[in-house]
Amino acid sequence: MTKDQAINDNLEPIIPMLNLSNLNVYYGESHILRSVDLNIFPGEMVCLIGRNGVGKTTLLKTIMGLLHSRTGNINLEGKNINKITTDKRARLGIGYVPQGREVIPRISVKDNLLLGLEARPKGRKKTDIISEEIFELFPVLKTMLNRMGGDLSGGQQQQLAIARALMGKPRLLLLDEPTEGIQPSIILEIESAVKKIIKTTGISVLLVEQHLHFVRQADRYYAMQKGGIVATGNTQQLSQEIIQKFLAV
Ligand SMILES: Nc1ncnc2c1ncn2[C@@H]1O[C@H](COP(=O)(O)OP(=O)(O)OP(=O)(O)O)[C@@H](O)[C@H]1O
Ligand SMILES: [Mg+2]
Repeated sequence: MTKDQAINDNLEPIIPMLNLSNLNVYYGESHILRSVDLNIFPGEMVCLIGRNGVGKTTLLKTIMGLLHSRTGNINLEGKNINKITTDKRARLGIGYVPQGREVIPRISVKDNLLLGLEARPKGRKKTDIISEEIFELFPVLKTMLNRMGGDLSGGQQQQLAIARALMGKPRLLLLDEPTEGIQPSIILEIESAVKKIIKTTGISVLLVEQHLHFVRQADRYYAMQKGGIVATGNTQQLSQEIIQKFLAV
């Protein structure tokens, strides 16, 4: 349900999981994000689409606090987090799977997973237990726990990166091109794992994605061009024009 529907149905307006308003972000003097407004409601999967270099990763890094906006507001469940550090944003419930995965190559799969515990609200406790839910989502990881992160294939590293983010028990998961450079059969596995995560945990997801099939799994999309949001709507109604303009299909 969108906020508008909630209001139309005379229900209490829903507080967005994430609300971005008027974000302007610069790299030095280069104006990268331009007046970005975006909402994600609880349990919603929203996809951000757009060609190379339009600012998708910049937006995710700004939400995570790795970059700072010159203007605007970032609200997480109604709380302004503009001045909150990246670590604290993670502990408030934002999980981040960066573009390129950033698996640590010279530590084991298990230790990569345990790093995800840092994002738990009370930080990392002395535990080395990885819940079975993680292995139900990504069975391949269970067989590879003692392998070095760098020994995994690209698809396995992507699954590890998502699993590591889930170890922090996020309520909002940011996924930056999780299928980039990954073979088609693994893309479908990742897609179904993400859908299962939403179904079983009710978390919200902001997905940056180029594969149309995966984009269609989202509830709504925002299309970005030159750092600004230029179109938004329901993914069921994605037109050929939008697909050709904003996806590299
Ligand atoms: N560290 C940086 N310093 C200066 N400019 C940067 C930096 N990182 C990115 N940019 C520029 O910011 C713009 C947006 O980059 P960004 O990585 O957010 O795009 P993107 O939409 O994620 O692209 P892609 O689809 O290739 O991942 C690009 O023009 C890029 O060249
Ligand atoms: Mg990017």
